[in-house]
Amino acid sequence: MGKKEKAKERREKRRQEISLLRTIPYSDHQRWWTSDTVAVVTGANRGIGFEIARQLALHGLTVILTARETSVGEEAVKVSQERGLTVVFHQLDVVDPSSIEAFAKWTKEIYGGINILVNNAGVNFNFGSDNSVEFAEKVIATNYFGTKNMIKAMIPLMRPSASGARIVNVSSRLGRLNGRRNRIGNIDLRKKLEDDESLSEELIDQTMNTFLEQVKDGSWKDGGWPQVFTDYSLSKLAVNTYTRLIARKFSERPEGQKIYINCCCPGWVKTAMTDWAGHTSPEEGADTAVWLALLPDQLISGRFFGERREINF
Ligand SMILES: NC(=O)c1ccc[n+]([C@@H]2O[C@H](COP(=O)([O-])OP(=O)(O)OC[C@H]3O[C@@H](n4cnc5c(N)ncnc54)[C@H](OP(=O)(O)O)[C@@H]3O)[C@@H](O)[C@H]2O)c1
Repeated sequence: MGKKEKAKERREKRRQEISLLRTIPYSDHQRWWTSDTVAVVTGANRGIGFEIARQLALHGLTVILTARETSVGEEAVKVSQERGLTVVFHQLDVVDPSSIEAFAKWTKEIYGGINILVNNAGVNFNFGSDNSVEFAEKVIATNYFGTKNMIKAMIPLMRPSASGARIVNVSSRLGRLNGRRNRIGNIDLRKKLEDDESLSEELIDQTMNTFLEQVKDGSWKDGGWPQVFTDYSLSKLAVNTYTRLIARKFSERPEGQKIYINCCCPGWVKTAMTDWAGHTSPEEGADTAVWLALLPDQLISGRFFGERREINF
């Protein structure tokens, strides 16, 4: 059997294991949440985000489904509400600071705070073997800076709780720092991003800005950046490294005010982002994010997961 077939077989086996795991209900002891537990999902009008919102609501949480377009967000909410789920809509564009501010203000007024934030909103403009950086600025602004700005805006709203508040960043294996085939060529930079001592928010931002400057002056092809979906891969690399960084900061918070943050790859999913190519359905793609958001006895933070298993950054 060739490598591809073996990988396909492993994937299929894991899919079957997960679909079995999903049929096992959480026990009363494991359920740390109630119907008053509030989860926010970004970019939830379609695709994986819509499914994450739906599955969290099926588990009995109150879900705030957000979308940048009010009309499509309201339509998406109706689908879940008609099935009796507690899903409400609020507009949120993660690249618009005034939208984030209005969302935070509304959430505080209506709910007082939130328990879970799922940063799912994302964009990609490459398909198949394309590797255009025409929209690099938008990709980095949405996928990395949008995620970071949402985390910063939501920290003060995270409800203190013995189970901890949770943040899940929907990322991608394409953003792996040490991926064998798609990594930053500059070993020194890779080491700095990998090492907890040298990793900083400034370093991540600076890495993104250096890439964007090279896109502007046309020199990015010689910059040693990831070779596949370069802008998208870098944006997710930034999400992953920021997850590791902020998890360390969160670990200093006192008991009762902990925030656990992890990131995950949904796999290659049939959504608009992949032009409906991919191995798995949005329902399956949503699974690891939902599982991470609801982990009983959550003590895991600053890690990266795929198909409910830890993977290397
Ligand atoms: N599909 C895959 O194979 C795959 C693989 C790895 C990772 N992911 C990640 O999974 C997440 C969901 O992707 P998907 O496959 O479900 O893609 P999708 O169907 O294209 O959905 C992306 C969602 O993000 C929203 N969005 C984009 N820009 C936004 C902004 N500025 N503010 C708020 N929302 C915004 C979109 O809203 P509009 O409808 O308004 O555009 C849409 O709701 C993304 O972070 C993606 O990078 C996907």
